[in-house]
Amino acid sequence: MIELKNISKTYKGKFYEVHALKNINLKIDKGEFVAVMGSSGSGKTTLLNMIGLIDKWDEGEVYIDGKKVEKKNIQEYRKKYITFVFQHFALIETDTVYENIELPMLARKVPKGKRKETIKTLLSELGINELSRQLPTKISGGQKQRVAIARALASDTEIILADEPTGALDKENTEDIIKILRKLAAKGKTIILVTHDIHVAECADRIIQIENGEIVINP
Ligand SMILES: Nc1ncnc2c1ncn2[C@@H]1O[C@H](COP(=O)(O)OP(=O)(O)O)[C@@H](O)[C@H]1O
Ligand SMILES: [Mg+2]
Repeated sequence: MIELKNISKTYKGKFYEVHALKNINLKIDKGEFVAVMGSSGSGKTTLLNMIGLIDKWDEGEVYIDGKKVEKKNIQEYRKKYITFVFQHFALIETDTVYENIELPMLARKVPKGKRKETIKTLLSELGINELSRQLPTKISGGQKQRVAIARALASDTEIILADEPTGALDKENTEDIIKILRKLAAKGKTIILVTHDIHVAECADRIIQIENGEIVINP
């Protein structure tokens, strides 16, 4: 599903040069659930941003679904394949839960009836039916993360990237979110999760360790 070949990324300023990723080679299959671990500053977010086509790599090649991604086409590929779930949810506070989940479908010009049906299914799957008309300011952290995941799923992309999605959650909610991610992987979604928490990482099919911009463990 995703392949990185010899990917390098350097952040350059007037007075600094950080080699955030050094010659990364990585292959992730469709439906795989991969966790990325590593100390702070090791390059986890940069790696996720390369896979998520948010930022451009300096060297190397990225393949998605067997096709080489040209840098000039990264936006198109991102829209087609990628969804991000963030630790801080990034919900729109003045919109209801329903409207937040609807957003990616509006952006994709999904017809109203189909939007309604999809949101109903997602609310039910994530156990948050009763929150439909609530504002994000009125719900708990665990509920917010479920809404953020529902919104991510509304895009219905094949690849879901999550940067510390359980970082702000308690144990019980963390376990629920992991269960949801596992279910998604079982359905064929490809999931890449960055986490500091070994218990969270152990729920993945594979744990990749990155240190100093290099993959040091990739079983
Ligand atoms: N936009 C940026 N400009 C300059 N340096 C950056 C930028 N983003 C990240 N870095 C540096 O690149 C390295 C890797 O960062 P990052 O990928 O955010 O690591 P992690 O997510 O593992 O904490 C760090 O040394 C960080 O300071
Ligand atoms: Mg990070």
